[in-house]
Amino acid sequence: MSYELVFDVKRGDFDKAGEASRKIKHTLQQLGVSNRIIRKISIAGYEGEMNLAIHSLGGKIILAVGENKLTLTIEDVGPGIPDIKLAMTEGFSTAGDEVRSMGFGAGMGLTNMVKNADAFEITSEINEGTKIVMNFIIQ
Ligand SMILES: Nc1ncnc2c1ncn2[C@@H]1O[C@H](COP(=O)(O)OP(=O)(O)OP(=O)(O)O)[C@@H](O)[C@H]1O
Ligand SMILES: [Mg+2]
Repeated sequence: MSYELVFDVKRGDFDKAGEASRKIKHTLQQLGVSNRIIRKISIAGYEGEMNLAIHSLGGKIILAVGENKLTLTIEDVGPGIPDIKLAMTEGFSTAGDEVRSMGFGAGMGLTNMVKNADAFEITSEINEGTKIVMNFIIQ
């Protein structure tokens, strides 16, 4: 059996930023997922959530719970990423001063997702949006 939970993330909503990742963490704790896996998903989910709030026009995070794996899909409507390879480079960021003053914009988010997920896929269309699918094996 598998099911999905969907969390909306609004652009620029820094008051609520982190709420979706917190709810995902809580859900996984209730499901009895190990702390090691929860930590990985929480990091990847938080980075994805912040990217939606900062770089997109808004989007959603979908947690799919399967028998052997958890899938986190993070998709948005937004500007898209012109050069994915460059965006995935550690330290690359287009974040402005305001975002940096809040502690974001180190250019580490996508790298952290890759490091924590067991599988990571990203697709992006200019002026349409970006979609990231991450799998986490649970055992
Ligand atoms: N959903 C998105 N839509 C459009 N551009 C994005 C999106 N996610 C990432 N990017 C682009 O990729 C760059 C790198 O993203 P990444 O998350 O690695 O770093 P960051 O968000 O700039 O900083 P950090 O995550 O360390 O706070 C961003 O600066 C932005 O240009
Ligand atoms: Mg980021």
